[in-house]
Amino acid sequence: MTRTPLIAGNWKMNTNLAEAEQLAAATARAAADLLDRDVMIAPPFTAIAQVADLLHDSRVILAAQNICWAEKGAFTGEISPPMLKELGVSMAIVGHSERRHIFGESDALINRRVTGAMEHQLVPVLCIGETLDERESERTKAVLEKQLRAGLVEITVNDPAALVLAYEPVWAIGTGKTAAPAEAQEIHAFIRKLLAAMFEKDIASQIRILYGGSVVPDNIDALMGQEDVDGALVGGAALKAESFERIIHFNG
Ligand code: PGA
Repeated sequence: MTRTPLIAGNWKMNTNLAEAEQLAAATARAAADLLDRDVMIAPPFTAIAQVADLLHDSRVILAAQNICWAEKGAFTGEISPPMLKELGVSMAIVGHSERRHIFGESDALINRRVTGAMEHQLVPVLCIGETLDERESERTKAVLEKQLRAGLVEITVNDPAALVLAYEPVWAIGTGKTAAPAEAQEIHAFIRKLLAAMFEKDIASQIRILYGGSVVPDNIDALMGQEDVDGALVGGAALKAESFERIIHFNG
């Protein structure tokens, strides 16, 4: 079974245009020799066009941090799949915990975003993850199952490359706390089992599941050494060219 590792940088609401261009160019250079793995970056919407130009001849995949389901119309503040595709975007983060918890996005709304992305051949990176409170009250698996099933309602996957999942425990995001590698592995295996119940087995076994939450150069190798950890969704450490370079050059 071969799942090409995917290291994804989520820049969140950071970088002005000059910073975005610098970081994108540095990431493109750093990724140039990495033929056995995929590298993705998700700049803020305001920088996507410029970053797209810079990535033109590179191996780096361009992603959006969110996506609407509709093609156009009265959706103030949203960006449509065709608008993103026109700029060269091919993936989109969906259901990030900041969207869920700061902006109140529901599983049903997130499901519409996943559906819209896939209908336009954009690959959603569907994020799921439990809060500290849910973890401490031993509801982690129940929460993840609910988010996964609700996020993927009426989704058919014929090509395992058409969907990426990210397990991002909310308590680990931006906190410097990371799930222990064995713990991440246990959860990823649990997610893969759920996928096998929802889709065909050989499809489920090929869908990539990323880990996210305080991934840094010091912990990437141990995380990537886990069988079901197929990559990482990196926030803070993706904003510094040297640390992201080290992360994409993981050994694991
Ligand atoms: P972090 O963010 O790496 O800064 O913890 C990860 C994410 O939110 O995707």
